[in-house]
Amino acid sequence: MKITKLVVASHNAGKIAEIKTLLSPLHIEVVSAAELRLGDVEETGTTFEENAKIKAETLTLQCGIPCLADDSGLCVDALNGRPGVFSARYAPDRDFSKGMQKLLEEMKVSGSDNRKAHFSCCMALACPNAKTKIFEGRVDGKIALKPSGSNGFGYDPIFVPDGYEQTFAELGEDVKNKISHRSRALDKFIKELK
Ligand code: IMP
Repeated sequence: MKITKLVVASHNAGKIAEIKTLLSPLHIEVVSAAELRLGDVEETGTTFEENAKIKAETLTLQCGIPCLADDSGLCVDALNGRPGVFSARYAPDRDFSKGMQKLLEEMKVSGSDNRKAHFSCCMALACPNAKTKIFEGRVDGKIALKPSGSNGFGYDPIFVPDGYEQTFAELGEDVKNKISHRSRALDKFIKELK
């Protein structure tokens, strides 16, 4: 598959920065939906895959360029997989320091000492007149007792990936980009392009 220009169907600056970094070796022109003045697409699906498909297919219809959408979230075992697809909306006022406090509080109230969690990412690639392709990635880990670190975005300050003692926000982008749910999904996308 030959792609020379790709729109990232997201308005999340943290996601866009990671996707641009991870795709930089491919020498594809990567632009965000905001750079093309394309609006936000409502996430009406109930799964990461449905939402990623909706975002990618809506924008590719609008701009005629291949679109890559990322739908992702944090799934916490003690909360039966929540906030999951609702990770962005779970945070009051979309403020993730409030979202992390809310999540830590809910875990306390649950009474469970199970701190296992994972990030999931579903990437959908939609191209004009072609079937949408799906690429998935996941990283397992645990929820820290309190937020630490200042790198990354969203719930990074409370997520400690398996094999490490620090959160994604403390480990920084080099480590995160090697093992994250997003990099694992993009590895599959890159293989498909090759
Ligand atoms: P959506 O895919 O636009 O619905 O948003 C996913 C939400 O999940 C983000 O706003 C973050 O809160 C969270 N999320 C997804 N990926 C990451 C990540 O790599 N680090 C931290 N939070 C993430």
